Amino acid sequence: SGAEYAPAVVVGSGYGAAVAALRLGEAGVRTLVLEMGRLWDTPAADGRVHCSMTAPDRRSMWFKTRTEAPLATFLWLDVINKDITPYPGVLDRVRFPHMSVYVGRGVGGGSLVNGGMAVTPSRAYFQEVLPQVDAAAMYATYFPLARRMLGAATVPSAWFESTEWYQYARVSRDQAKAAGLKTVFVPNVYDFDYMQREAAGTVPKSALAQEVIYGNNFGKRSLDKTYLPAALGTGNVTIRTLSRVRAIRRAADGTYVLTVDRLDDTGAVVATDEISCRSLFLGAGSLGTTELLLRARETGALPALSPQVGQGWGGNGNVMLGRANHMWHPTGAHQSTIPVLGIDDWSNAANPVFAEIAPLPAGIETWASLYLAITKNPERGTFTYDAAKDAAVLNWTGAQSAPSIAAAKSLFDRVNAANATIYRYDLFGDTRAFAADFCYHPLGGCVLGRATDPYGRALGYDRLYVTDGSLVPGSIGVNPFVTITALAERTMARVLAEDNVG
Ligand code: FDA
Repeated sequence: SGAEYAPAVVVGSGYGAAVAALRLGEAGVRTLVLEMGRLWDTPAADGRVHCSMTAPDRRSMWFKTRTEAPLATFLWLDVINKDITPYPGVLDRVRFPHMSVYVGRGVGGGSLVNGGMAVTPSRAYFQEVLPQVDAAAMYATYFPLARRMLGAATVPSAWFESTEWYQYARVSRDQAKAAGLKTVFVPNVYDFDYMQREAAGTVPKSALAQEVIYGNNFGKRSLDKTYLPAALGTGNVTIRTLSRVRAIRRAADGTYVLTVDRLDDTGAVVATDEISCRSLFLGAGSLGTTELLLRARETGALPALSPQVGQGWGGNGNVMLGRANHMWHPTGAHQSTIPVLGIDDWSNAANPVFAEIAPLPAGIETWASLYLAITKNPERGTFTYDAAKDAAVLNWTGAQSAPSIAAAKSLFDRVNAANATIYRYDLFGDTRAFAADFCYHPLGGCVLGRATDPYGRALGYDRLYVTDGSLVPGSIGVNPFVTITALAERTMARVLAEDNVG
């Protein structure tokens, strides 16, 4: 029996992949989506699809024996992480020597686990980062299209100002203001009508029940509620789960041949398939796509790929930190997991920072204010192919995180000085105030205009496309999924107009 054939294959089902699948399906191209994670649509014995952050079980993480939450401890107590049975859970923490990268696994990729913040970068910074992209078209067409398709909306201000669930954000806003810093409301894809009904007690709680990084059971417009059902609705798109693409090569007739491992719930490879396609769209994320292309280049399967594959990685300057408030500034036992405010000091040329005001939904008063700061770290990591492990390894040193920490410290020292407060030292498993050894925003590895042409066509081969976060060169100054989605829309519009992909 010959290899299975589809005109187009999309690897992954996160933002870039979901855009590719929908636009291919609409164009009448029969498309197979291969996703290594599960479809998250079936309730377990407890009636829920996903588990919460406070009571994690096997559904929480991708084949781990213990959860690996970003906040390791509370008052230095190991009360957060729990032993679990290995399972294809929804959140993965991919560990490299000095950097851990959090990614979503499942149909919807990162949209299943992320905070839903749908932020458009400043135009000036977008142009600085991606000068070869026509910013006018992005800001007139593709960013608005991405926000509309993703269902981005802003929290109703009257409710925000009055609800106990956002007291933590109002406290952080006041403290930023005292330091002369501006805060901005940030759109989110969470359904705020639903959230208000959660608060009123008329629907099951999700954002108000400590759900987010291990999935939201209700309320969040993740990709499995937006782009992906629309793609399936074209009648041309099929999604195959627990299917991990391992290798890519090119046959003599110019088709791409994928080696695909089918996983079971224990992680065992139960079958290995060969699937061939005419056009190949890589949406496996910064880590996934970069690894596939690096492996293909280094093993000689696709030797003409650019030497730039594997270069230009950054974690968007991510730093997490907590501040300790005074007893008379409680942040509330009840905290919505969905962030809606950011401290926006990106226009400060000396020290640009955009800091998401993050929840610490412990269910008890913590007097802590938590932040995910996005900083302008000029350092870039590179991936090398480890032949013995058949894996891509991210080369990133602890010293390369230092600029992120310095920038966050510079801003939050101001906040602390203005409010006579201090940092929290009990949150990251030791006595650090700043955690920059993990990130939520992996970007780069196959940078637009370097490893690809200006539209995401991989250099060296026809009908081979990159559509995900690996295109963005390490930094975008805000939470990245709106940018990834908009760039993918731009790529698909161009490719479907110019290339014969079907
Ligand atoms: P993405 O990572 O979404 O999807 C890749 C998919 O490919 C995954 O489903 C993966 O399983 C699959 N895959 C990988 N390798 C494969 C292989 N070999 N074979 C088959 N499948 C494979 N951003 C934002 O804008 N606002 C926010 O609020 C947040 N918050 C946030 C919180 C947390 C906890 C995390 C982890 C991340 C965020 N992010 C975020 C970041 C955001 O989720 C991220 O930038 C995007 O999901 C990246 O989209 P991509 O399309 O690049 O890949």
